[in-house]
Parts: sequence; structure tokens; C-alpha cells
Amino acid sequence: MRKKMIAGNWKMNKTIGESAALAEELKTAVGGVEDVDVVICPSYPALDRVHSLIQSSKIRLGAQDMHWEEQGAFTGKVSWDMLKDAGCEFVIIGHSEQRTYFHETNETVNRKVKKALEKGLTPILCVGETLEEREGGKTEAVVEDHIRGGFAGLTSAEAARCVVAYEPVWAIGTGKNATPEQAQEVHASIRKLLASLYDASLADSLRILYGGSMKPDNAFGLLSKADIDGGLIGGAALTAASFRGIVEAARP
Ligand code: PGA
Repeated sequence: MRKKMIAGNWKMNKTIGESAALAEELKTAVGGVEDVDVVICPSYPALDRVHSLIQSSKIRLGAQDMHWEEQGAFTGKVSWDMLKDAGCEFVIIGHSEQRTYFHETNETVNRKVKKALEKGLTPILCVGETLEEREGGKTEAVVEDHIRGGFAGLTSAEAARCVVAYEPVWAIGTGKNATPEQAQEVHASIRKLLASLYDASLADSLRILYGGSMKPDNAFGLLSKADIDGGLIGGAALTAASFRGIVEAARP
């Protein structure tokens, strides 16, 4: 049985002080939840402060991206050891906003995934099609390409430590979530692909989150589907009340 995970992606929102205030509220709202893995991913400057606040709770910390290099002349980039030092256990990789605005490719995603795994961080690998791709009947092909690209060269022991997030681009930040049936269909196809790339037991144990306008009022329907193991939450992660609503919907 896969344990559900709810991860909040705060994106480029909240100052350090605002992040700390939300972390305090979340500690009260969901800090004791043990039957769902609760993760929050603030901006880089807020990581350390948020970590010190949530340490005494069950909430765990993630970052929104990282570079694959160890250190050096890479202005603007952040390395795995900086993230670990700040308390991160997870890192979002290949988010569609990175792919769309910052030239992220399957190749850079794969390098980041490999480095994260090598250094003991859990990658949350994002995949998903645009509206144009969906309407052109290419959803499965695009998602397959993202999965093959992201997992390229991973051993099954490495692959087993990944989390996948299916995030249809047309659903992100639009208020237009995929229906539970639409999401389930893609999640099942991802699991089938992973079974063919590795084996059935790996595919069966790997968590596949859904992301894209998940809210308290649609979370339960999505999370009830057989292959939907949690959520990667943007907008609704920015207030404690709505994030809590989603965490509650994920509880067994
Ligand atoms: P959203 O974002 O919940 O605001 O649609 C999800 C994401 O981009 O991870």
C-alpha cells in the first residue's frame, strides 16, 4: 500500500517572514499528521528558517529545483549540499515552469535527478502535457518521453527512490483541474510504462502525485483513484486552511 504524499510548491511566493508565518500555521494545522507524508517547498531564502520551525513536527522540507553540478561558477544556481544543509529531503525537478521559462530539458532533468539520488535527496520528477499536446492526442507520448528522459540510466534501486508528479500544464494555476478519470488514465499509463522499464513491483510501489489546480473541494475525488498517490499543490498550498483541507482529503 502506497502512503499518500501531499507536497506544497510555494513557487516564487512569500518573503522569509511570510514563509515563517505560514510554516507556524501549518505546524498547528497538519504538523502532527503521520498517515500522509506532508512536504513543503518554500523559496530558497526561506528554507533554513522554515526548517528550524518545522523540525519539531512531522512536516518535511523540499526545494523547488537544484543544479546538477557540485559547486563553482554557476551564478544563480543552488547545489545539493546547500539544500541538504538547509534541511531539505526532497527536491522538485522538471517542473513545467522550469521547462517552459528556463530551458529545462529531459537531459537537464535527468542530470538533476541523478545528482539528487546520488546525494540522498528524493526527486519529485514532474511530467505533463500542454493543452495543445492534449488536444493533438499526444498526452501519452509526451508523458512517456518525460518519464523515459527523466529516468534514463537509473538503476532500479535508484528509480525506486523517485516520486513522480503528473502535472498537466493546462491545469496548473488555471483553476481547471484534470478530472479524476483523466488523471487516473495518465497515472495508470505511467505505472505501466515504469513496469515495462523496470518491473511490476517497482511500478507498484512508486508514488505518482497529481498536480494542477488541486483544491480541498476536488482533492478527494482525485485522491480516491487507484493510481493517484497524492498531490503537488501550488496555489492551494499558500494558505494553511486550504492545504490542510487537501491533507485531510488524503488521509486513509
Ligand atoms: P497549482 O500548481 O496547484 O497552482 O495548479 C501546481 C504546481 O504547479 O505544482
